[in-house]
Amino acid sequence: MGVLAGKVAIVTGAARGHAEAVAKRFAKEGASLAICDMVEVKELEETVGAAIKNAGGEVICFQTDVSNEQAVREMVDATLDRYGTIDILVNVVGIIGPTKDVWQMSYTEWRRTLEVNLDSVFLCSRAVLPTMIEKKSGRIINFSSATGKQPLSHRAPYATSKMGVIGFTRTLAADVGRYNITVNAICPGMHEDRSVEMARARAEYMGKPFDEAVFRERYDAQRKNERAVLAGRWCADEGYTDRGSGTEDAAAVALFLASEEAGTMTGQDINTGGGCMW
Ligand SMILES: NC(=O)c1ccc[n+]([C@@H]2O[C@H](COP(=O)([O-])OP(=O)(O)OC[C@H]3O[C@@H](n4cnc5c(N)ncnc54)[C@H](O)[C@@H]3O)[C@@H](O)[C@H]2O)c1
Repeated sequence: MGVLAGKVAIVTGAARGHAEAVAKRFAKEGASLAICDMVEVKELEETVGAAIKNAGGEVICFQTDVSNEQAVREMVDATLDRYGTIDILVNVVGIIGPTKDVWQMSYTEWRRTLEVNLDSVFLCSRAVLPTMIEKKSGRIINFSSATGKQPLSHRAPYATSKMGVIGFTRTLAADVGRYNITVNAICPGMHEDRSVEMARARAEYMGKPFDEAVFRERYDAQRKNERAVLAGRWCADEGYTDRGSGTEDAAAVALFLASEEAGTMTGQDINTGGGCMW
């Protein structure tokens, strides 16, 4: 029997990336899933939804903008109608936001990043909490970032939102611990595709050329070098782990946090980046 047999989990942003990995992993461990994304519901059903069903899992799909209060309520209500309860919420959605300096950024750009990355965590958590409080049991897992713990030049909205996710996680954990609800954050490292996206945006911002092929070729070596520097002189020759983290690494940590075994682990922000800060 799977670790999450009989549990109901909502996973946001599940059309790709970390959330897709989390949804598939949870389904494999027996959870019934409700997944959402901005993409058309048909697309979600035919891709990640179909993969989960073909593997024997149970899933319902939604097209939901998680920064929209009404849309979040509708998704949570429909999940309750279908499954009768909600045990686990995984707030994964995050956008990288603008690569600009604060004095060149529009208020709209700032607001949108905060809405999608931080307001959504509030809205989804608020919507599921009455059910969890009533049954005195629940797990909320929020995706922050290594950037939730250190600055990221020219990316103030993203960094601020991810720092906010950690603040919200710690505070909510303190508020709901008495209801046997745990709240934790996962701070993934960079995976290659998003690194390319970010490096391209930074190069454009700096007015420098960007060669994706060269970047991908150097990616591993660069990461290792960055790790070695961050690790300090004792690790300078070796760095930490030999590889950076992928979506599966974060999904494995999410699975543990969602499990019964993690019942006393709350208010934490856990790096899954292979020892490097990003
Ligand atoms: N990828 C990385 O390297 C990395 C590193 C550190 C932290 N993170 C964090 O991990 C999380 C997942 O990152 P990822 O790279 O796997 O994501 P991704 O960009 O691959 O996927 C995000 C998904 O969210 C969906 N989405 C965007 N806005 C939405 C909205 N308003 N409502 C509903 N869905 C929406 C997108 O359509 C997409 O399918 C994010 O919170 C991100 O900040 C990622």
